[in-house]
Amino acid sequence: MELSDAIRSRRSVRKYKSDPIPEQTIKELLELAAWAPSGMNTQPWLFVLVKGNDYLKDLSDRSRAFILAQMEDAPALKNYRSLLSNPDFNIFYGAPMLVLIFGSKNAFTYTNDCSMAALNLMLAAWDRGIGSCWIGFARGYCGAPACMKELNVPEGYELVAPVILGYPAVPPGQVARKEIRIISR
Ligand SMILES: Cc1cc2nc3c(=O)[nH]c(=O)nc-3n(C[C@H](O)[C@H](O)[C@H](O)COP(=O)(O)O)c2cc1C
Repeated sequence: MELSDAIRSRRSVRKYKSDPIPEQTIKELLELAAWAPSGMNTQPWLFVLVKGNDYLKDLSDRSRAFILAQMEDAPALKNYRSLLSNPDFNIFYGAPMLVLIFGSKNAFTYTNDCSMAALNLMLAAWDRGIGSCWIGFARGYCGAPACMKELNVPEGYELVAPVILGYPAVPPGQVARKEIRIISR
């Protein structure tokens, strides 16, 4: 796929087949993610791969509870209260895998760096017919100390980008883009 086609046609996918992504493909995707630029070339990313339907649903339930408990402090999420209260809502949409991209806090620009690695990952995945979606809902709980310990993430890292991957069950719909704001002088 042409790069410009991949950029234009990538969409957040929220309905997945259960088919697993081959190990070799996952390796390729992570290798491509790691070609992202990083401040002072620190390459501060750490990829945590999470699989298993039941475990992901459990993480989803814990993430929903975490957000609902903190709703008062995050007014931007208030519109999602009823969705997140639904025990059947899986924040990972039944995707067969979740990639949690953590950044080393020693690096000055780790949030920027890991975000770029995430976009590389999503575009490289789409180029192979694999859908993705950045799941901000997972950041609070999966980035909390108890969950990081459960996932064997060492001290000194912070969760930047939770990204689900899988083969789309249906082609993703179109999403409009706003008019681009440009200032030239
Ligand atoms: C930082 C960030 C957090 C996001 N969190 C979620 C999320 O928790 N759940 C979800 O379904 N989509 C999430 N998305 C996906 C956006 O809703 C999506 O990118 C946007 O609607 C544009 O659609 P597109 O990706 O298909 O172009 C997130 C995207 C970003 C960049």
